[in-house]
Parts: sequence; structure tokens; C-alpha cells
Amino acid sequence: MMIVDLGCSTGPNALALVSITVEAIHANCLQFQQPPPEVCVLLNDLPENDFNTVVKSLVTLRQSSDPVAVTGITPGSFYERLFTSESLHLVCSSNSLHWLSKAPEDLTKNLIPAYDIDEHSRHERLFPCKELREIIQEEGSFSIREMRAHDPRTDMNNALSTPGRFTRFLRALFEPVLVQHFGDVMDEFVKTTERRWVLEGSLQEERARCPYAMLVVSLAKA
Ligand SMILES: C[S@@+](CC[C@H](N)C(=O)[O-])C[C@H]1O[C@@H](n2cnc3c(N)ncnc32)[C@H](O)[C@@H]1O
Repeated sequence: MMIVDLGCSTGPNALALVSITVEAIHANCLQFQQPPPEVCVLLNDLPENDFNTVVKSLVTLRQSSDPVAVTGITPGSFYERLFTSESLHLVCSSNSLHWLSKAPEDLTKNLIPAYDIDEHSRHERLFPCKELREIIQEEGSFSIREMRAHDPRTDMNNALSTPGRFTRFLRALFEPVLVQHFGDVMDEFVKTTERRWVLEGSLQEERARCPYAMLVVSLAKA
């Protein structure tokens, strides 16, 4: 059984999804008293990703997880052909598939489109369940098993949501994109964002004004 994570990144998150997947397969086989299948786990990210630590963790995963027989990495863009036809059984990806193949023209002109529109349109863009459903249906390769929108900040303790923490969260999410397009700007980015939210209540106010959604989608090959 071939399992792949697209956009695995590096560090502890790199193996989080595939480890959960392997455990779920194991549990399912136990429940139905079936022998677990031999599993091959492949991790993908762009060639610039730091795969050194990822490879070491993959070896640990192979040695500690019973049904994992083979592990490997597949560097390259998921916008290109990475695997042979019909070779994958389960593909997972977290916080990666929204990365575009290239910067939109607006960004190269230093405009951020989502902020140049009115409140209603911004909400539509940030909670695009309907739009995504239509795109998947129109394209036709997959059927939608389940789709949910979730604002991860609703579970976040407000007391933990300080300007410093929120800025580090944004840095972790966007540093590669910002550096690629704007160069060495991260120190300035951190100073500017912290300054913006340092006023009492301004971060909470901005969070309420700008909803943020994660879409979780489960698809099956049509
Ligand atoms: C925000 S990280 C998510 C990491 C991890 N999956 C997680 O949930 O914590 C996004 C990752 O997607 C990778 N990525 C972006 N575009 C990609 C592409 N076209 N092909 C492969 N990986 C890509 C980035 O290099 C980055 O490591």
C-alpha cells in the first residue's frame, strides 16, 4: 500500500500525517482481524526543503511501525508528474495544496488581492467551500466524501494569543513565500506586525474582523 504526503515540510510536522495514517490502518486491520498490509511511505516537498532530518525520522518510522516496509522521499513540485500511474493508494496533505505554482500577478505588483476587496467578498474568499466543491465537481477526477471548514483559532486560548506568538505563527506559515518574493524582509516583518498588534485588544479585534478558515476535504478517485 502506497501512502504519500504532499508538502511534508521538515521538523516534527513532516511525519505527523503519515504516522497517524499508518496507525489508523493498523487499528482498522486489528478491528477487522485482517493482517496489516505492507506499507510504503513517501514524503514529498520542493527540492529546497531540508530533507536531511526528514530522512532520519523516516528510518525511525520504518523501524518502529510494524506494517511500514519501505520509506522514501520524492522531491519535486506537486504541480509536476511525481509518481507512476495508478501507483498511489492514499495521498494526504496538510497546509500545502493552497500554495500556487507561481506568484499571482497582483503579488508581483506588491498588492495582496484578499485585502483589496470588500468585507463580504473577503468572507467568500476565506470560506470558499462552495467554490472548491464546484471546482472539484467540474474537474471530475475525484468525488467528495466529506468537506468541513474550521477556524483553528476558535479552540485557541485567548490568553495565549499574544502579538509575539501570533507573529511567530505567521512567520512559520509565510516565511518561505515572503522571502522568495520580497527578499530578506523577515526581521522587518516581525517588527511591523508586533507593532501593529501591541495596542491592547487590537489583535483580538483584527481576529474577529478577519475570519480564517481551514478546509478539510476527503476525496476518493471518481
Ligand atoms: C505550511 S508548510 C506545511 C507543512 C506540513 N504539511 C504541515 O502541515 O505542517 C507548506 C509546505 O508545502 C511545500 N510546498 C509548497 N508548494 C509546493 C509544491 N508545489 N510542491 C511540493 N511542496 C510544496 C512547502 O515547501 C512547505 O514545506
